[in-house]
Amino acid sequence: MSFTFAGRPVPFEPEQSVGAALIATGVLSWRRTRFGNRPRGLYCGIGVCQDCLITIDGRPNQRACLVPAADGMQVATQIGNGHAG
Ligand code: FES
Repeated sequence: MSFTFAGRPVPFEPEQSVGAALIATGVLSWRRTRFGNRPRGLYCGIGVCQDCLITIDGRPNQRACLVPAADGMQVATQIGNGHAG
C-alpha cells in the first residue's frame, strides 16, 4: 500500500497516519509558513498544534498526524493555510 507525495510513492503500514508514513520515509517537513517561509512537519503529533497541515486529494488543511494513510491518496505540500505549494 502506498500514497503519492511530491510525485513519489510513500509506503505505509495499516493504521499509520500520513505524517507517520512521511517521517518513516525520511520526509521531515511538508509545509512552509505563510510568514517567513519556514519548514513545518510533525510537532505535537496529536492534532493540537496544526504544524502538520497538508493537502490531501486536493483538500488543504488536513492534519497529517491524524489522517490515516490510504492507498492511492494524492498528498501535496502547502504554504500557510490552504494554498497548495
Ligand atoms: S503535529 Fe500537531 S496537529 Fe499534527
